[in-house]
Amino acid sequence: MDSPAPPPGQTLAGYLASQDQADASLHALILALAATCAEISALVARGALGDVLGSAGAENVQGEVQKKLDVISNDMLVACAESSGQVAAVGSEELEDIIVFDKAADRGRHLLLFDPLDGSSNIDVNVSIGTIFSVLPAPTGRAATAQDFLQGGRAQQAAGYALYGPQTVLVLTLGQGVAGFTLDPRDGTWTLTHPGLRIPRDTREFAINMSNQRHWAAPVRRYIDEALAGRTGARGKDFNMRWVAAMVADVHRILNRGGVFLYPWDQREPDRAGKLRLMYEANPLGWLVEQAGGAASDGRQPLLDIAPTSLHQRVSVVLGSAEEVERVVAHHAEAA
Ligand code: AHG
Ligand code: MN
Ligand code: MN
Repeated sequence: MDSPAPPPGQTLAGYLASQDQADASLHALILALAATCAEISALVARGALGDVLGSAGAENVQGEVQKKLDVISNDMLVACAESSGQVAAVGSEELEDIIVFDKAADRGRHLLLFDPLDGSSNIDVNVSIGTIFSVLPAPTGRAATAQDFLQGGRAQQAAGYALYGPQTVLVLTLGQGVAGFTLDPRDGTWTLTHPGLRIPRDTREFAINMSNQRHWAAPVRRYIDEALAGRTGARGKDFNMRWVAAMVADVHRILNRGGVFLYPWDQREPDRAGKLRLMYEANPLGWLVEQAGGAASDGRQPLLDIAPTSLHQRVSVVLGSAEEVERVVAHHAEAA
């Protein structure tokens, strides 16, 4: 027997219209980004049939081999930002330099940053991947420069991600909590399905790439050792572990059922702050986590308080349930 049709939910456009902050250009930009993410989702779903798997045969500024889908989704998001008319300039994981769209003053009130395809190593094995974006205010009365992008995470006007998983969802904050929308692939519409996401305070689940254990700093080793010790250890409870290798998917799980995610500095590359990028990975996801009642830190200070110094800057990341993040920060403070 067919299950009854679900009641119609609020659309993304309806949700934006219901927000206190009536920023028409920001709302237009979010709708444009959502439409592009729906297109990326359709390409992802076609996979080998759409000739979107495999390597693009080039390296990005991070020294990583680009996948076809990294390049395709980057190009789609650049085109989206330009055609929206709301964006002065974009920065991307896949672009060494920013792209300024229009030298004329006052064209585009926002700067847009994105990780077009997060979790690239999952593409060819049909595991969840995503898109992350962060919106910052653009300068007025002059063309944007790379320097204009170096704003701390608290300056973000909007942040979100699309997760291309068993369902495609868009999770968004405008600074008044976190809302999740599900894509209906039949008609490309987004419906509010996860209003008011809150990260549970209590958790028994961590996410970290355990294969790097021997390289971590002492405070991170201590935190994970305590979790692994389980019920008879310092924590007095057993922990579970998950690692999707797409931060978007790990953060989505944490937003829905709690947990903590770590991608810490490690001693293999002592001069590199971490693997993840501050401007288009850590800041947008960190703000979403804070807006859902969690915490996001580099082990010493909130991610959102870091003053950025470069577009592709790396950072050590600990985020999720506030009590766990506070514990990791306390371990760092004790070790210092
Ligand atoms: P990207 O695909 O955009 O380069 O990001 C991948 C990141 C992040 O999403 C994920 O948590 C991490 O790299 C996975 O790293 P490991 O391969 O070390 O597990
Ligand atoms: Mn990424
Ligand atoms: Mn990426």
